[in-house]
Amino acid sequence: MRILSVVNQKGGCGKTTVSINLAAALAKRKKEVLVVDMDPQGHASLGLNIDPEDYDRSMYDVLMHSGVEIDQATIPVSEHLDVCPASVVLAAVEQELKDKPGREKRLLAKLMRMRRTYDYVIIDCPPSIGLLTFNALTASNETIIPVDPSFFSLHGLHKVRETIELLRDEIGHEIHIRVLANNCNSRTNFSRDILYEIENFHGDSMLRTVISHTVKLKEAASRGQPIAKFDPSNRAAKEFSALAEELVGQEGFFKVSERREVGNVFQGPQIVPGGVRFAIEAPHAQDVRVTGEFCNWSYEGYALQRGDDGVWSTVVDIGDGQHEYRFIIDGVWVKDPNNHECITNEFGQENSVVNVQA
Ligand SMILES: Nc1ncnc2c1ncn2[C@@H]1O[C@H](COP(=O)(O)OP(=O)(O)O)[C@@H](O)[C@H]1O
Ligand SMILES: [Mg+2]
Repeated sequence: MRILSVVNQKGGCGKTTVSINLAAALAKRKKEVLVVDMDPQGHASLGLNIDPEDYDRSMYDVLMHSGVEIDQATIPVSEHLDVCPASVVLAAVEQELKDKPGREKRLLAKLMRMRRTYDYVIIDCPPSIGLLTFNALTASNETIIPVDPSFFSLHGLHKVRETIELLRDEIGHEIHIRVLANNCNSRTNFSRDILYEIENFHGDSMLRTVISHTVKLKEAASRGQPIAKFDPSNRAAKEFSALAEELVGQEGFFKVSERREVGNVFQGPQIVPGGVRFAIEAPHAQDVRVTGEFCNWSYEGYALQRGDDGVWSTVVDIGDGQHEYRFIIDGVWVKDPNNHECITNEFGQENSVVNVQA
């Protein structure tokens, strides 16, 4: 089960649009998907044609009452797609849980107890970094940060990154960050400048898919339909389908991250005759590479070969000295999970380090 939160403190940058349409595109690929609406405005619920006022239970009850499980508040939307709705009372959670211990782990606890399992849980966050967003982040392994061409949106992106780093430092919770360019109009210089800025500073975590400015997205949401249903031949429908494909293509790595909690299989880079042996367990991956200073951080890097046990490895002669490196698993850049030696790079991300002595 991959748990993704869609976060940015800036309102209107496309969190809900992305949550709804990505969820529908994944469901179309026969993935079992649950949308968790963590925004008291309930836009994700309404955008999926579910009016929270018509139901007895919502995310408020799930978070506030120990006896209410997610399964009891979940409503089927369409084939392979369910939603756990939110209504305006959800706003009270921030205040009501203020002094309660474990308040930022309530959603995580409920997701872990859920009876039904999903391939994807997509959490639509409110436009602020308060307790609701903290709950979403603590429950997620991955996050998508939609950024529209505005400086507030970029600012929001920096804030989310800071929050995620805080979670890592304070409670050791690692979240994989992905940035999604949304609402882009290739014809304006402003769009191009912002895209350039994101690529420059967040290139590693950028999703390949870009969502264009598409008027029909708003119309679809107001009819309570994802674009894939409202207008399947629309450009945005194709882009969300591509986004789903991009994420599905990265499942290899994320299935590993769940297993890793059970225990590491082997440890880090090894100095062997002929160079350094790089290895990583990624049984479902299609393509694994290692890149670093020794090849100018090229995207090609050096390809690893898959062994029967799902462990990918290769030996590279990188010469003597200290070297920084990262793996690229199906296009996702990651540090070596089995190597504690890391250096924070200029983008605030960690590179793994190996020392080769003559
Ligand atoms: N790619 C896009 N093209 C056109 N309109 C968009 C796009 N993404 C979002 N919107 C519109 O912008 C508004 C805000 O989007 P929304 O997803 O609700 O943002 P958030 O959840 O971050 O507040 C909505 O009316 C939505 O339909
Ligand atoms: Mg929203």
